[in-house]
Amino acid sequence: MSKTKIIKINPKNPQINKIRQAALIIKNGGTVAFPTETVYGLGANALNAKAVKKIFKAKKRPADNPLIVHINKYDDLRILTDKIPPLTKKITRKYWPGPLTILVKKSKNVPDPTTGGQKTVAVRMPSNKIARLLIKESGVPVAAPSANLFGKPSPTSAKHVIDDLYGRVDAIVDGGTTDIGLESTVLDITKKVPILLRPGKITKENLRGIIKIKLDQSLTGKRTKISKPRSPGMKYKHYTPNARVILLKNSIKNVDQRISELVQIYQNKKKRVGIVTTQKNKKYKSNLTLFLGKDPKKIAKNLFSVFRKFDSQKIDILLIQEIADNDLGFAIMNRLNKAAYQVITK
Ligand code: TXA
Ligand code: MG
Repeated sequence: MSKTKIIKINPKNPQINKIRQAALIIKNGGTVAFPTETVYGLGANALNAKAVKKIFKAKKRPADNPLIVHINKYDDLRILTDKIPPLTKKITRKYWPGPLTILVKKSKNVPDPTTGGQKTVAVRMPSNKIARLLIKESGVPVAAPSANLFGKPSPTSAKHVIDDLYGRVDAIVDGGTTDIGLESTVLDITKKVPILLRPGKITKENLRGIIKIKLDQSLTGKRTKISKPRSPGMKYKHYTPNARVILLKNSIKNVDQRISELVQIYQNKKKRVGIVTTQKNKKYKSNLTLFLGKDPKKIAKNLFSVFRKFDSQKIDILLIQEIADNDLGFAIMNRLNKAAYQVITK
């Protein structure tokens, strides 16, 4: 594939003719990147194995890494599963449309490539207007992983998608920057007590307000060796910028001094050092310091684009300080821990 169509759509008031142009590509078995409220997704007809395989090829994604299927209305869940778990209504009534993905047993309609061979399928109903209209006009459930090349941070703007996938997909819908900036919360509700597999904007505290949940062992810190990963995020290194991320824990006594020392050490080794800081007015002698602010919502929204900025500046070492891991901070720290090459605790 050489040419990729760029379709610019107004996120507040999507032009229906442009939505239909993109939907037609999906109907015909092609691939279209589009914005959701979390991150950009790379979509194709979830029920068409051939179309779904194009997603894996475009992203260079391993075939055993399952996709999330996006629907436009609740009843479409019945296409994807014959067995809607009892808790589904209770949870989706509150959080759909929105950044919550649930796992259900897959029906025969869902081809194996879509679920990477798993017997469960991940489903979500996004709230982003463009995403909703695109799924509706496509007339099929739309499989869409994040629209980045495998191993890169998830894209939060059309530019990120263009940087990764131009020439590799049929079309890219440009619908501005995404609101949340982190991928959806993933919850396995096939279990008696649902298991949180990936934290996101909908927090464990939110979910615990309505149901009982357990955290997957990958989220409890008691990481054991995983032979058969339930979730690809546990098997593959994810969310990594090119730079080696060094995570500095708050248990370090004098963090500022430590950061300055590390900058020196690495610069002496001719490395380009970047710093992500949540404190204003900090002056470090790094090659690039980016301020993320203190508000977890803002940190979430900008984190992946900040990672990409460091990449574009050819930063080798990236120093990041830990943030409080309650509420949305839990999802942010999950991504930082996954990105981290090294964690310094004292
Ligand atoms: O916010 C999002 O979820 C975005 C937008 C585009 O909707 N999508 C996204 O997809 O982040 P992706 O492929 O990058 O992440 C999908 C994650 C996997 O890493 C895995 O943890 C989980 O969903 N997943 C999907 N199907 C699964 C299954 N059958 N069993 C276990 N985990 C599954
Ligand atoms: Mg992804």
